[in-house]
Amino acid sequence: MNNQKAVVCGAGGFIGGHLVKGLLKRGVQVVRAVDIKPLEDWFQVEDEVENVSLDLSEKASCSTAVEGMDLVYQLAADMGGMGFIEKNRLSCMLNVLTSTHMVSAAKDAGVERFFYASSACVYNATRQTGADVSALKESDAYPALPEDGYGWEKLFSERMCHHFDEESNLTCRVARYHNVYGPNGTWTGGREKAPAAICRKVIEAKMSGIPDIHIWGDGQQTRSFMYIDDCIQGTELIMNSDIDEPINLGSSEIVTINGLVDIVEEIAGVRLKRIYHLDAPRGVMGRNSDNSLIMQRLGWEPSIRLRDGLERTYRWIEKEMMVGGSASVRARSQELHTGRVLTA
Ligand code: NAD
Ligand code: GDD
Repeated sequence: MNNQKAVVCGAGGFIGGHLVKGLLKRGVQVVRAVDIKPLEDWFQVEDEVENVSLDLSEKASCSTAVEGMDLVYQLAADMGGMGFIEKNRLSCMLNVLTSTHMVSAAKDAGVERFFYASSACVYNATRQTGADVSALKESDAYPALPEDGYGWEKLFSERMCHHFDEESNLTCRVARYHNVYGPNGTWTGGREKAPAAICRKVIEAKMSGIPDIHIWGDGQQTRSFMYIDDCIQGTELIMNSDIDEPINLGSSEIVTINGLVDIVEEIAGVRLKRIYHLDAPRGVMGRNSDNSLIMQRLGWEPSIRLRDGLERTYRWIEKEMMVGGSASVRARSQELHTGRVLTA
């Protein structure tokens, strides 16, 4: 792979930024990194790469992005945690322009391999109604009843990739990521997912001296959370494999949201009063990744313990918040405490 040229799309975001770094470390020649955001807003920037701001919902920009490339990693999407995807279904559906133009431009440019970042949100909702849910296996995506908006787009784009793989010379690989967390991700602003949001809220409580935490739902929901290093390693393994169907890439360590809060409190050395918001965005009641297929095909699965990954994530967010200044944290915490801001 080392003499092949790669482009990472969505490189200004969380996973894309780590992917560029990870590929470079492994000796892959990442030539280009693309994101719609201006460069100063990228979470991570690697100087040895050609970093370009392009709107990949436009076909011409996709052609520019993939020109001269052998490998394309397509992670660009307008997305976030439940607070974002439940209220921005249209924006999520419109990601179909980016996904479709990207795979089509890659084929036209004679690209060899195309990676598409799908999601556990493709799974049928009726299989995720209880907290003690069985882990989701790949076939549980059908019959289709995915998360409205975001999940439908991911499922459609998976199938688009499948047919490009089947009927053209473009080899497509698709991973269904389950909730990914780690440093250099979104931790405030409304798009953050539970691990980062809970870390931030615990740090806010500590810094403000207000010993409360606001939790969405009743805290009994279950999830599995995958640390970013596992996500990057799994992405590379899947991209270079012969797995031509969408495959789970997620941790199988299931935890309740209350359990997640327990761990973060323990890292922080505090105990907080929990205030539950039953009308806040909740998503499915339970979700976990069945890793039988990835074990069978790759002899590997994500293995970084939640406690270890959260420790690293917590310390990073804490540092970021220190830079932001404790005054702004106090003000924000006060807002949360009085219920004026509920979305974060
Ligand atoms: P992110 O929001 O941090 O990164 C996505 C990036 O795509 C952003 O920087 C954004 O600016 C960019 N982008 C959006 N629209 C674009 C466009 N039109 N042109 C160019 N760039 C555009 O998200 P992430 O967590 O890094 O997720 C990366 C991919 O993985 C996404 O496709 C996401 O749907 C998928 N995924 C992520 C998770 C997770 O838990 N993080 C779970 C399942 C799937
Ligand atoms: N975001 C967030 N913020 N979630 C919270 C909070 C909070 O302060 N408090 C409790 N939760 C609960 C949510 O109500 C939800 O039940 C659970 O934590 C997980 O929420 P998220 O991390 O936001 O999202 P998700 O796991 O439902 O879905 C995410 O993962 C998918 C892949 O598995 C999303 O990021 C999707 O975009 C992604 O595809």
